[in-house]
Amino acid sequence: MTRTVRINRDRLWASLMHMKEIGAYHDEATGLRGVRRLALTDTDAEARRRCVQWMLEAGLEVRVDRIGNVYATRPGRDRSLPCVLMGSHIDTVATGGAFDGTLGVLGGIEVMRALNDAGIETLRDVEVGFFTEEEGVRFGTDMLGSAVTAGRIPLDHAHQLTDGDGRTVKEELVRIGFDGDAHERRAIPYAYIECHIEQGPILADAGVDIGIVEGVQSISWQRLTIRGEAAHAGTTPIESRHDAGLVAAHVVVEARRMCDSGDFGQLRATIGNFGIGEGQTNVIPHQATLTIDLRNPDNDHMTSAEQHLAGYVDELAAHHGVQVGWERMAKTAVVPFHPGIQEVLAATADDLGLPYVRTMSGAGHDAQEISAICPTAMVFVAGENGGISHTPREYSNPTACGNGTDVLANAVLRLADQP
Ligand code: GLV
Ligand code: MN
Ligand code: MN
Repeated sequence: MTRTVRINRDRLWASLMHMKEIGAYHDEATGLRGVRRLALTDTDAEARRRCVQWMLEAGLEVRVDRIGNVYATRPGRDRSLPCVLMGSHIDTVATGGAFDGTLGVLGGIEVMRALNDAGIETLRDVEVGFFTEEEGVRFGTDMLGSAVTAGRIPLDHAHQLTDGDGRTVKEELVRIGFDGDAHERRAIPYAYIECHIEQGPILADAGVDIGIVEGVQSISWQRLTIRGEAAHAGTTPIESRHDAGLVAAHVVVEARRMCDSGDFGQLRATIGNFGIGEGQTNVIPHQATLTIDLRNPDNDHMTSAEQHLAGYVDELAAHHGVQVGWERMAKTAVVPFHPGIQEVLAATADDLGLPYVRTMSGAGHDAQEISAICPTAMVFVAGENGGISHTPREYSNPTACGNGTDVLANAVLRLADQP
């Protein structure tokens, strides 16, 4: 007989709305209130403390590890068994909304409260956690805390990463009081489930609130620095210029052309950061930097896209007499999620009478890292406005959030009762 639990939807929504105020800002572009809570800033610290407070109020045992990941445990009957872990992140991009990552963390805390309310004892420990710097916006590498936990990124390397002002991850962990002492290579969980907003249109188009995620596409982040030569805008003949800005502009256009060409499968390319020299009206730019974010659901297509772009940039550099330097920021291959955990999620949604679709994730998630150490899958929640995310327009309604968190709760309950 499968036990069931129902989360308290009003309480979940109240938590989400409370958290939305931590890092709230007025977004000029949309006229909306957004959330800006970059990793390891004072606002992130405030959000962290709020989550810890809620975890303690739910009677959980809280610990912080050496990369600042926070875990809270609800003990099961047999503490020698590996736990079932839920989690996500509470850092946001600079133009963030209230749901990306936060839903999975506050949803996980709500699952704990609901288990408490129902007086349910599980066989295994259940844990909820949040991982440091999932977005990668501040320190340049995404999924940082979970990648350290999974062993892909060494702790020392992560600690030494710097933000735009030269502050290191380690300094900032110490400064905000989240430089914990638990080992980052945590005890291997029995299973990990992450509930997250979809951040795309697939669920809404299908008319469902729930997605069972089959995996995450490959992600490549690189920073390109182009060095040309500053010279006078009015006097320097066109043919003798070494215009770093012009080369950078070509790269932006080529990245889009590659997506439109169909030669690289379902490639998505984004130049989200673009800077030119000193930014002087009458001087040819001597330097340009840009970041290149490539996504592809096929590893081979990703490889050929990277190779093509590298060759294109080399030719361009030779033609314009500029130097280019590449810096690898992040790279992950396609990650398929565990079929067994996907089936638990599907059976749970069926039993709750919630229709779902199966889908790949376009966005990166902590789950792709944790899947390297234990059976992992994700449940997606539909968003409105075409599922738009990384903007204050990001919005998932209370029913969708409640439905996704009910699937999370009941899938976790099933797994936590498995001997
Ligand atoms: C995480 O938000 C990503 O960049 O996919
Ligand atoms: Mn996220
Ligand atoms: Mn995000």
